[in-house]
Amino acid sequence: MKKILFFLIAAVAIIACGNAGTETEKKPTSKARTASATPPKADGKKIYKQYCITCHGLYGDMGASGAANLTESKLTVEERIQVITNGRKTMAAFKSLLNEEKIEAVAKYTMELTKNDEEEE
Ligand code: HEC
Repeated sequence: MKKILFFLIAAVAIIACGNAGTETEKKPTSKARTASATPPKADGKKIYKQYCITCHGLYGDMGASGAANLTESKLTVEERIQVITNGRKTMAAFKSLLNEEKIEAVAKYTMELTKNDEEEE
């Protein structure tokens, strides 16, 4: 019985804190900074999550629409840039959506996805 009560109180406290947190978390400094700063280097991970997980999945191994398993890909960064830029079979070309810098960033990010299984080379 006591356990349940404690859990309830804890849950309410967490919810309450969560709401309060989002309300008061308006840090004027960070907001000003994002508005004025020029965009930093392209974030490959962010781009990947935005454009690639629909087919490749969060970890690169989902294989939807016959997508290549990026965790097992043997391609070099340059070759990946080629595939991402110009597309291949069902994979769309991204050159109209992403600039060179972004394509390079996301290609590098896919290299990270491959790391788990790289010993054999
Ligand atoms: C519409 C689904 C789809 C989306 C979205 C997609 N891909 Fe693909 N991708 C594929 C398919 C299908 C292949 C395999 C092409 C083939 O068999 O020639 C592939 C192949 C690749 C390859 C080659 C891997 C290898 O070893 O041959 C890379 C690298 C790649 N995708 C990266 C990306 C990146 C990065 C993005 C996001 C910018 C992305 N893909 C978005 C479907 C997709």
